[in-house]
Parts: sequence; C-alpha cells; structure tokens
Amino acid sequence: MTTVLDVQRFKEEGQRFAVLTAYDYLSAKILDEAGIPILLVGDSLGMVMLGYPTTLPVTVDEMIHHAKAVARGSHQALLIGDMPFMSYHVSVEQAITNAGRFMQEGGMHAVKLEGGGRVVEITRQLTSMGIPVMGHLGLTPQSVHQMGGFKVQGKSDKQAARILADAKELEQAGAFSIVLEGVPADLATRVTQALRIPTVGIGAGPGTDGQVLVYHDMLGLTTGKAPKFVKRYANLAEEITLAAQRYAKEVAEGTFPGLEHSYSANGVAAPAKARRDEVKYGAG
Ligand code: KIV
Repeated sequence: MTTVLDVQRFKEEGQRFAVLTAYDYLSAKILDEAGIPILLVGDSLGMVMLGYPTTLPVTVDEMIHHAKAVARGSHQALLIGDMPFMSYHVSVEQAITNAGRFMQEGGMHAVKLEGGGRVVEITRQLTSMGIPVMGHLGLTPQSVHQMGGFKVQGKSDKQAARILADAKELEQAGAFSIVLEGVPADLATRVTQALRIPTVGIGAGPGTDGQVLVYHDMLGLTTGKAPKFVKRYANLAEEITLAAQRYAKEVAEGTFPGLEHSYSANGVAAPAKARRDEVKYGAG
C-alpha cells in the first residue's frame, strides 16, 4: 500500500507520480487496480457529482459518504480526503474533529486543506496528532469569491513570494505534500525546488513532483470546453451518448434483448417475438 513515506521517497528518487480524484466505489476500484498510487476524494465532487456551482456548499457529511465508498473500492492507494469549506476554519478543535471523521468514518489516510496563513497552525496541530496533511496553494477553489473567480494565482512578484513563503511554512508545519493549483509553471518549479516535500500540480506546468487531474475531466466525461490544463485521455461522454442512443434504438426496433440475453424455463430461450407476446398476453 502507498504511504506518505512512499510519497516522500518518490521525490527523493526523482520519481514523478500521478494522482487522480475518485468519488465512488467503482472508480476507486478501477484506478486502484490500474496502479494509481494516490486517490484524492476532492471536494470538486460537489461540482462534478452533485451539480453545485462551486465547492462551497459541500458538507463534511457529503464528503464522508463519498470517502467511505472510495475506501471500500481501494486497497493499495494512499487515500486523501479533502476537508470542505468551513470544516476547518472556525477553530483548531473543529478542524481536529472533522479530520478525525475523515480518518475514522471515511477510511482516509490523510486530509487536504486549502490555503496558508491560519491554515499553517491547523496543519501543525493535525500533524502533531498523527493526521497526515496535504496542503493546497495557488488557485484555492474554496476562496473563489475572494479571488474574483477561478483565476491563475501568483502572477505578480508579491503573490508569487506569498505562495513560496506559505509553501515553506506548510512544510515546516509538517505537511507531507502540497498541491499547487493554477499557478505559472516557473513559480511551481521554483516552489518544488525549494521544498523537501513533494508538490503535486494541476494547471501548474511540468515542474512539480506529481500531477493531479479530476477523473471525469481526464476521461472526457465532462462536457463543454475543458480548461487549458486538462488533457483528455478518453472521450467517454461521447461514447456514453452513442451507446445510450444505440441501446434506445435497439429497444425500439425489438432487436434487444435477443435470445442470448433471454431466459427460459427449460434452458432454451424463447424466440423474441413469442416472449414479447407472453409479456403482452400472459404466458400459458
Ligand atoms: O477537489 C479537488 O479535486 C482538488 C484537486 C483538483 C486538487 O482539490
């Protein structure tokens, strides 16, 4: 099983690693069996799975519901649970209680928190209790309203210096890794080189130690134009549309189900037409 120590070793050995989001049992099982070493139950599930306009409405209960399903499907990957908006902002006590729920109820091995500043102290408290913490800097979606939208962060020298300083403070506070989201590639490279712990980039260029993508984006399950940083490795939304249309057509034409998909009392499937008549008029 992948542990936080393995993730540290990946950096020391210069081994780049992939992280993907997982929100349910089946996707976790598939990704785990595919050898993806780290699965993130991201609060992006609020937008991708639940249809919220941002991640802000996501609750701890919703996250735990999905985390439990992911934990049931995965046996090898390091599982990280994303602490949602307002689940670690009120007090250290609140953060500890909710992080504890992710570990005890959700079956997660670590939690992820967005931001620097006050989050540094919360990180210190959680890690001192044996709860591994992944940081998250740059474009932090829980601060979407403060950022004035989903915008690349760290473009100015001042912003870049803040992100670098936050990253160093999170490392000092015991974070085992930091997500860098939506920052210029050269800043992500600089932060990565300045840290002993690994960085994981999304929209942060090729210079980070690992990369993370949202499962549904990567598989082309999301419709519409994908953000620039997304590479679609499949086009499943299109595949699903075609498959659903073919199925509906075959049902309308009466070519599905065929004999090979039908049962009979004596082991010999009834011809499709006879079966339809039985259903209509009742057998015998
Ligand atoms: O919620 C999420 O999926 C994330 C990743 C994009 C890093 O935070």
